[in-house]
Amino acid sequence: MKKILVTGGSGYIGSHTCIELLNAGFDVIVVDDFSNSVAEAINRVEKITNKKITFHQVNLLDKKSLNNVFHQEENIHAVIHFAALKAVGESVAHPLEYYTNNITGSLNLFEVMKNHNVSNIVFSSSATVYGDPETTPIKENAKIQATNPYGHSKVMMEQILIDTNIAHQWGVVILRYFNPVGAHPSGKIGEDPEYPNNLLPFVSQVAAGIREQVTIFGDDYQTPDGTGIRDYIHVVDLARAHVKSIEKLNTSPKQTHIFNVGTGTGYSVKQIIETFRRISGKKIKTVIGPRRPGDIAECTADTSLANKELNWHAEFGLKEMIESAWKWQSTHPNGYKS
Ligand code: UFG
Repeated sequence: MKKILVTGGSGYIGSHTCIELLNAGFDVIVVDDFSNSVAEAINRVEKITNKKITFHQVNLLDKKSLNNVFHQEENIHAVIHFAALKAVGESVAHPLEYYTNNITGSLNLFEVMKNHNVSNIVFSSSATVYGDPETTPIKENAKIQATNPYGHSKVMMEQILIDTNIAHQWGVVILRYFNPVGAHPSGKIGEDPEYPNNLLPFVSQVAAGIREQVTIFGDDYQTPDGTGIRDYIHVVDLARAHVKSIEKLNTSPKQTHIFNVGTGTGYSVKQIIETFRRISGKKIKTVIGPRRPGDIAECTADTSLANKELNWHAEFGLKEMIESAWKWQSTHPNGYKS
């Protein structure tokens, strides 16, 4: 069985991807430092799949320990690289911490991969690299214009991988995620943020009575109801795109591939909240606040390239996204601590 090393494998998207990898028959090695995740996520992935994960608690800035992992784990077929800091606002306040973690951590990883002749990688990028797009839906060849240190770090890592492909013929798949939401249908794993910065986890916590109200960040955008439109993608669909990417590295090796991962359909903040009310049956109090700095009116994906080249299609719609998010939230009011 092929071995896949997953950095950040106990995090939100990482843990869901581990399930899909194990179900597809891969051996999974997780490297995570638990800076934004817990060991319980790995335990649950093992329970859901009835399969074992090999785990190493290592921070990517600790190159020596990372090197030991690659030394111990021979014949790694590919790396899926999730481990990174990801809060946009925090990245503006602490750019050096973000660049050190995301860039230096990634460079350590890539150098260790090179030293151990591991030359296949799937990289977790973001629609944030498009900044405020000129048109939507966005195609992969749209202008790259990130607007904050988090986004810049993603742009830089994409470039480092593109250059490494050119120099060393690595197989590279860059996945640009739109807005990942929802949880595994089992309700056993899900997003567990310390503080919810994103819309869906925030709305979930309001529905659960943990927070009082949702502030809608602006209702004066040039959109039908005035609130921001995003392309929400079910985390299980997103996880499956990673398995398809590993397959792509086999059928089309030594190349760089870049794919948007979204559904192609946009929903406004008001539509999300209204759907959440309907599905949960809960009252969700809202207030209109000012626009959040850096936010854009609309961001949706043109997914035709991933549909064609990866043979991947989003299977779940908004209903499944919100049902699964609510199943996780309502059974785990305190996340994994519940
Ligand atoms: N929003 C609110 N209230 C909230 C939180 C969000 O109204 O409490 C609105 C935002 O203004 C936006 C929409 O809900 O219109 C979605 O906001 P999120 O914070 O959930 O997601 P973003 O689109 O801002 O950002 C996400 C990821 C980034 C990634 C980006 C790519 O968090 O990491 O998508 O588009 F870079």
